[in-house]
Parts: sequence; structure tokens; C-alpha cells
Amino acid sequence: MKKSPPKKFNKAFLVGEKVYLRALELDDLDLLCKCYNSPEVRRTFFLNTPTNRIQQEEYVRNLYKQKDHIPLIIVVKQTDKPIGITAFHRVDLVSRAAVYSIIIADSADWSKGYGSDVTRLMVEYGFEILNLNRIQLHVCVENEAGIRAYEKAGFVKEGLLRQGMYRNGEYYDFFVMGILHQDYYGR
Ligand SMILES: CC(C)(COP(=O)(O)OP(=O)(O)OC[C@H]1O[C@@H](n2cnc3c(N)ncnc32)[C@H](O)[C@@H]1OP(=O)(O)O)[C@@H](O)C(=O)NCCC(=O)NCCS
Repeated sequence: MKKSPPKKFNKAFLVGEKVYLRALELDDLDLLCKCYNSPEVRRTFFLNTPTNRIQQEEYVRNLYKQKDHIPLIIVVKQTDKPIGITAFHRVDLVSRAAVYSIIIADSADWSKGYGSDVTRLMVEYGFEILNLNRIQLHVCVENEAGIRAYEKAGFVKEGLLRQGMYRNGEYYDFFVMGILHQDYYGR
């Protein structure tokens, strides 16, 4: 049988084991809308308002003017299918700190190891390329997959935001998680 040529992931910015990460394009508007409108994602990400292609197009067109926000599209290596978005927010070049986020749009793509792969890649990018000193995030205490993916990449629980966010009649606690340059390099 004729072998297919190896995939080169031409648009890739960062390449992991299962996924690669690439810059956002206007072709991604439907994926972005799915990420932020999906009831399943809104449940775990605590999003409350809808978005549309117009809002997302404006966002993508202005994106790389903002130096403190670095989003990337998550693509499965094997299929070349874009499945979500990851980002550094509030990149602070004085404190050398940033906030990390990740959304995989479709729950059919959850629990396949993609989130762990993306988190490892972003941590490596943050410390080795961007020269950050600290990466942090907030995660609902009930988001077991997220917490586990973050811990596997080296994040530790640093604190608790009591009743941090509200959803459907209940307030939920959130962990503050962080990883330092010295943790990553084992010093
Ligand atoms: C949170 C999210 C990024 C995790 O990514 P993922 O690809 O689903 O996670 P992984 O498959 O890499 O799994 C991570 C770990 O959690 C475990 N896990 C996966 N699903 C789980 C579940 N439902 N319950 C408990 N543990 C789970 C996995 O077994 C794995 O641990 P292991 O390697 O020790 O076995 C993804 O589910 C997602 O995008 N959810 C919607 C948006 C969201 O919640 N974003 C994060 C907000 S802070």
C-alpha cells in the first residue's frame, strides 16, 4: 500500500504530541462562536452572554494589535481538525506574568488527552519563548479534567476563590492555580 506523505502542519506555531497550535484566521469564526456559545462549554467556563460572527470577526481583525493577548487555535494533528482555542491573557512584561485559558469546543473532543497536550505546550511556550516568570489561572473546583490537565503540566493549587462565580442558582468555588519559572526548571 502506498504510504501517504507525512503531515507537515504548515500553519503550525507550536507542535505537541497530539495537537498543534496555530494563529487565528477569519476561517475560524464558526469555531470561535461554537467555543463561546456551546451550552456545555458555557457550563464549565461560566460564560453568560452570546456571541456572533460579527463580534468574532472584529476580534480576529484587531487581534494581534494587542500585545498582551496571545490566542492560538488548537488543531488535532492526525485529522487537521481545529477543535478549540487557547490563550495567554494579560501578558505583563514587567511582572513577566500571564493568565492561561483553554476551551475545546465540542465535548466529543474532551478526555482524549488534547487539553493536557495543549497545556504542556503553552507552559513550555510561556517559559522558554516568552520568558515568563509566572502563569496562572482560575478553575471551578468541579472541573476535574481541567484541574488534572493543569497539575500534569506543573500547576499547583495556590488558593481558593470562595463563591467565585454563579451558575443556575448556585455559587461555585474556584481554585487559583499557578506555575512559576523556578517550578518548571526545578530550581
Ligand atoms: C478542561 C479541558 C480543557 C480539559 O481538556 P481535555 O482534553 O478534556 O483533558 P484531557 O483529556 O487532557 O484529560 C486531563 C486529565 O483529566 C482526566 N479527565 C478527563 N476527563 C475527566 C472527567 N470528566 N472527570 C475526571 N477526570 C477527567 C484525564 O483522565 C486526564 O488525566 P490522566 O492523564 O491522569 O488520565 C476540556 O475538557 C475543555 O475544554 N472543557 C470546556 C472548557 C473548560 O472547562 N475550560 C477550562 C476552564 S478553566
